[in-house]
Amino acid sequence: MQIYKVGGAVRDRLLGKPVTDIDWVVVGATTEEMLAKGFRPVGADFPVFLHPKSGEEYALARTERKSGRGYGGFTFHASPEVTLEEDLIRRDLTINAMAEDDQQNLTDPYHGQRDLEARLLRHVSPAFAEDPLRVLRVARFAARYAGLGFTVAPETLELMRQLSESGELEALTAERSWKEISRALMEDQPQVFIEVLRECGALKVLMPEVDALFGVPQPEAHHPEIDTGVHTLSVLEQAAQHKQPLTVRWACLLHDLGKGLTPEEEWPRHIAHEHKGLKLIKAVNERFKAPKDCQELALLVGEYHTHGHRALELKPSTLLELLQSFDVYRRPHRFEEFIAACEMDARGRKGLEQRSYPQAEYLRGAANATRTVAVQPLLEKGFKGPELGEAIKRERLKALKAYKEAASA
Ligand code: CTP
Repeated sequence: MQIYKVGGAVRDRLLGKPVTDIDWVVVGATTEEMLAKGFRPVGADFPVFLHPKSGEEYALARTERKSGRGYGGFTFHASPEVTLEEDLIRRDLTINAMAEDDQQNLTDPYHGQRDLEARLLRHVSPAFAEDPLRVLRVARFAARYAGLGFTVAPETLELMRQLSESGELEALTAERSWKEISRALMEDQPQVFIEVLRECGALKVLMPEVDALFGVPQPEAHHPEIDTGVHTLSVLEQAAQHKQPLTVRWACLLHDLGKGLTPEEEWPRHIAHEHKGLKLIKAVNERFKAPKDCQELALLVGEYHTHGHRALELKPSTLLELLQSFDVYRRPHRFEEFIAACEMDARGRKGLEQRSYPQAEYLRGAANATRTVAVQPLLEKGFKGPELGEAIKRERLKALKAYKEAASA
């Protein structure tokens, strides 16, 4: 049997990037031979094994053919006769379809190295279309390597467009899609992921609520970039530049969905878009079964981001409601993430990227001011049950009034 390194490990070594996990392909072997060597099979009927020591994936060279809709609809053929070239041709991109032996000799029948140099994400063959998830993968690689100057080859974009129009994307499971989306959002340029999906028509299928933001104007005085879609991409870009976590990036992407529902005659204003957007945010959250912390933050940021921006003008009672909505005493971290998302929203405006955001410190200070309210003295005064709750609220309000006065003095 011959063993080769394949896929991302070869690509990233040639790009001079760190290689994290290594995939191997085995040519000329049978399942029985693999088992005899101590490899552990992954799943019952898939020709992939884990190395007994390193735990890395070793796959028997195989050909694949799509036999139905969705991910389940695959038949594959693995046998010692399948060649390395046959295995590589079923892969997604030329830059992912190179193999290397233990002497670092490259097998590159589909010119991945040429495309690496040309900075092109190009599909290997029409077999690309057999897995619609590849539309998301290509957009994710575009986001990852945009900084190196990579773009999607026109013919690959065209194939992605056909796949998006064919209805195949709808067969993807929430889990597989979310895995790609969440990884893409954590790349250096996550806005490129959304741009590429939009360009090939996949955004309209996967997240029509985000797609609908393009072409929707906002008031120029607050939003020099005007277009809501362009603004959303800039907010995402800011979130990546500020190394925000996934929760914040997800909330940034979805914060303005309500603006896509504004009747044209109300443009460029968006009255109550925060509230109107909530049902859309919920729908997107559920469509991809986003993790609970992502779902929660997206909804809270959607509902309250304008409060964040207006923090310094808010009445103490409104400020208190905001803090309570966030359950800031038990969930301080979530409130920090809200503040971060608001700041990214403010910075994601053309020409205002460097402007300071004093609201952040003010909101933190407000939360801290209410934290100084001690419960023990109220208990000692005999308050209990709902009355205790009311008394705590009154004291917190007093603290916020004093805080606001001190801040504006
Ligand atoms: N692959 C594919 N189509 C998919 C998934 C994977 O063709 N839908 C192939 C590609 O050749 C890819 C290899 O399997 O390089 C390994 O896949 P994976 O580990 O998911 O990706 P990597 O290319 O290693 O990229 P990453 O750095 O994102 O893990």
